Amino acid sequence: MNDPAAFVAESIERIRREVPEKAIVAASGGIDSTTAALLVERALGERARAIFVDTGLLRAGEVERVTEFFRASGLRFEVARAADRFFAALEGVSDPEEKRRRIGAAFIRLFEEEATRFGTDRLVQGTIAPDWIESGGALRDTIKTHHNVGGVPKDSRLRLVEPLRDLYKDEVRELARHLGIPSPDRQPFPGPGLAVRVNGPVTPERVRRLRVANAIVEEEVERAVAAGTIPRPWQYFAVLLNTRTVGVTGDNRVYGEAVSVRIVESIDAMTATAMAVPRPLLKAIAERVTRELSGEVVRVLYDVSDKPPATIEWE
Ligand code: XMP
Repeated sequence: MNDPAAFVAESIERIRREVPEKAIVAASGGIDSTTAALLVERALGERARAIFVDTGLLRAGEVERVTEFFRASGLRFEVARAADRFFAALEGVSDPEEKRRRIGAAFIRLFEEEATRFGTDRLVQGTIAPDWIESGGALRDTIKTHHNVGGVPKDSRLRLVEPLRDLYKDEVRELARHLGIPSPDRQPFPGPGLAVRVNGPVTPERVRRLRVANAIVEEEVERAVAAGTIPRPWQYFAVLLNTRTVGVTGDNRVYGEAVSVRIVESIDAMTATAMAVPRPLLKAIAERVTRELSGEVVRVLYDVSDKPPATIEWE
């Protein structure tokens, strides 16, 4: 992409060619799908409908933040409230890959229903080329396509439209900035949501716990960034571990859960370094998590692993 304005004009034409009538857009509120949704809105107007799925696996305040922004940007959208069906799909599942498969299938089923309701078979996704640009040169032959909704099975009647498929993350961010999307440099959030950060069984109760812990990590890290104590990390979040551990509250023994904090620096997510954060930041996070989840989470760990050999996410 040389010039965002030219890319927008070309995309609008391409989208109009690929979508003869109507389309729905899978809009997660993230940078990629929001950028795709705004392009489609410009190309198709009322012939497009963005669908924002409340999976029950989103972060604290995310539904409100995303809907507020979509409304302000004039996007035509609907919120599909689907927490019950995602939790039902995940019941009894602990295996990370199985979680992704179940979530992907639940997304596709939902988008098939929404497409039928809207009278189309076109689904727009914010799929981008992976962010693996290495300094010096971009080799395009090992692209790993990233499907936010988990891939569309061959027997699905949905036909994919992917306006950003040739762009890399930095190009999408530039385009997002051009389109006026707020905080285009904000941290990525995985399509399967908090489900891949709740190790082991994914229940509403355990997701609620992680959501509280994650909001604390985000707040404390953002406070430290604003104060100039640390540079802005690539990603910073909490993970609820699949273990029970003993703690003490007042005079009582508590057999609670444990949270791991992940704060990493990265250029393109292909490699990452665990940030050497100041001790007071970790202490503030640990104290708040164990106080605000008193009796539920009794231990907070800091993940010092780089990628490789670890990955950024735990699952
Ligand atoms: P890993 O854990 O593989 O993550 O080091 C690399 C980057 O990708 C994000 N990620 C995902 N994003 N769906 C997504 O949309 C996924 O299933 C998924 N898994 C990992 C992760 O947050 C990091 O930025």
